[in-house]
Amino acid sequence: MTTSEIPAITIAIDGYSSTGKSSFAKRIARELDFHYLDSGALYRAVTLYALEKGYISPEGNIDTASLERDLQSLDVHFDEQGRTCIAGRCVEQEIRTLRVSGKVSPISTIPQVRDYVNRLLRICGKDGRIVMDGRDIGTTVFPNAELKIFMTADPMVRASRRAAEMQAKGEKADIDEVLANLKERDYIDSHREVSPLTQAPDAVVLDNSSMTMDDQMEWVLDLIEKRFAKK
Ligand code: DC
Repeated sequence: MTTSEIPAITIAIDGYSSTGKSSFAKRIARELDFHYLDSGALYRAVTLYALEKGYISPEGNIDTASLERDLQSLDVHFDEQGRTCIAGRCVEQEIRTLRVSGKVSPISTIPQVRDYVNRLLRICGKDGRIVMDGRDIGTTVFPNAELKIFMTADPMVRASRRAAEMQAKGEKADIDEVLANLKERDYIDSHREVSPLTQAPDAVVLDNSSMTMDDQMEWVLDLIEKRFAKK
């Protein structure tokens, strides 16, 4: 299968935190010469912005009125290298810290925040040939995506992967703390009122608890070839 044999489809990858959605989506994009879009990065950028503006109190209360007002002129975007920026400032590193991870789920329950992010995502993905990962891409953002994958893995496997990722970046990572953050996010993400994390009825489930990246690539390329390769 060559990249020119694949039509300009949209691939939506949803699933729980730290299931490796973004690494998988990036590899697929590279392999098929598609664009990759990380929707979680936009929620993280809005969260970083809210933290920096002091809209989230130490107790976790959110000044939603101020945040909603600022969203009207907030400039969050991806630069040419695909890095997340707030008003021209690259925030790719800062949005991955535990400080942001700890607050991103409550921020992403705010309907206006979801509308803001969804609008950006739909603009970025309007021409197809994209792989997008998140929680509600196949259910809400692109319900007509031609291929939907729902990723899951054992929580302990996910926590170990996330901790290793953080340590590789020189960050402190306590496995119990990472696991607790992950379970809390799973809960909030799947129980929020607007666009909760759910598997789209037409999504294919991928449990990668004991799969390597190469195993996952073999699985997905085979699926794509069977379903979409032009004969
Ligand atoms: O994929 P991630 O861990 O970077 O996402 C961060 C948070 O953003 C996640 O806890 C929930 C939220 N999110 C969401 O609500 N909807 C999406 N499409 C993507 C992320």
